[in-house]
Amino acid sequence: MIRMKSQLTYLKKSELYNDLSHQQDNFFALIDDEVKDHLPDWVRSSKKVFWLKRPEQNKNLHTFGEAVGFFLDQGISRTSVLYAIGGGATTDLAGFVAASLLRGISWISVPTTLLAMVDGAIGGKVAVNMPQGKNLVGAFHAPQEVFICPDFLSTLPEEEWNSGKGEILKYGFLSLNIFEKIIAKESIEVIAHQCADFKNQIVEDDFKEQADRILLNLGHTLGHGFESMLQIPHGLAVAMGIKYLLKIFSQQDMLENWEKMALALGMDLNKLELSAYPDFNVDKFKKYLFQDKKRSHLNLRLVLIKKVGSCFVQEMNIQDFFKKIEAYEEFKR
Ligand SMILES: NC(=O)c1ccc[n+]([C@@H]2O[C@H](COP(=O)([O-])OP(=O)(O)OC[C@H]3O[C@@H](n4cnc5c(N)ncnc54)[C@H](O)[C@@H]3O)[C@@H](O)[C@H]2O)c1
Repeated sequence: MIRMKSQLTYLKKSELYNDLSHQQDNFFALIDDEVKDHLPDWVRSSKKVFWLKRPEQNKNLHTFGEAVGFFLDQGISRTSVLYAIGGGATTDLAGFVAASLLRGISWISVPTTLLAMVDGAIGGKVAVNMPQGKNLVGAFHAPQEVFICPDFLSTLPEEEWNSGKGEILKYGFLSLNIFEKIIAKESIEVIAHQCADFKNQIVEDDFKEQADRILLNLGHTLGHGFESMLQIPHGLAVAMGIKYLLKIFSQQDMLENWEKMALALGMDLNKLELSAYPDFNVDKFKKYLFQDKKRSHLNLRLVLIKKVGSCFVQEMNIQDFFKKIEAYEEFKR
């Protein structure tokens, strides 16, 4: 098994600026346009910055090609370091650019959303979306460092806060320590720190997702379907994915823990109800899950919860899983 770990550094914006200023002469970066106002003047006017608008929509091969061409024109070399500054979509795209350019250069991720700080920007799974689905072209390429600077969150829209909290709720089932911190209503900064360290440790032990790293996919089987069909942010879809998994497996005690965590995190429970989305259609949903599944030619590998802090992987035939979905009242639409 391959082991790999990035250095996680927690810092204030002034410290980040200080670090960046040392790279001024050889600074290459791919940055979410939305965080421009957070950055110093010399970065805003740098000719070596590729600014990314609407990151999720542009996390694709077309923009990948544009960015690679841009950095080659700007003289990037094998010894250059590429900075990725933005949410998870930006760090996914920039990480893939770094993985491919000149057969791979070093990169540093600087997450600017809560979701990216606890998950997306850590671990080196980098990818772009294809018309056929999300994250279908990519690589494993760990950032050499992750600079976590919570000051960026001052401008984060509420919906994106909730998305980050959805991923945090996932960690609450993977780690008893994180669960207790959530229930005790510790500050989001403290909890996020724990989540980032937790993920970094799992990635260190299993970089290529051959063992425990799979557990980080808790809630993602149904979650990816919800994200795509309901057009909701990733983390909200993951939180819903966990909730409906618990419902169809009739795990009432864990559902209570789910609700306790969602409330402690201040999430809007109404937005996590399938009934809030009148356009939901179970046949289209199953079709999406089937397409998604077809790519691995295996049974579904569901991550299930035994108890808080203890999850496991269970293989299941997709038709058996569909029967479980169909039997559940809220999916009958
Ligand atoms: N590689 C991984 O291991 C991994 C894990 C989880 C998620 N992801 C990927 O991460 C993406 C989701 O990440 P995300 O939720 O950060 O989405 P995102 O990058 O699309 O950012 C969400 C929105 O917030 C804006 N934004 C970013 N920082 C901001 C700030 N500080 N202030 C105001 N607005 C800001 C962005 O412009 C965007 O509109 C998905 O593409 C998902 O596939 C990857």
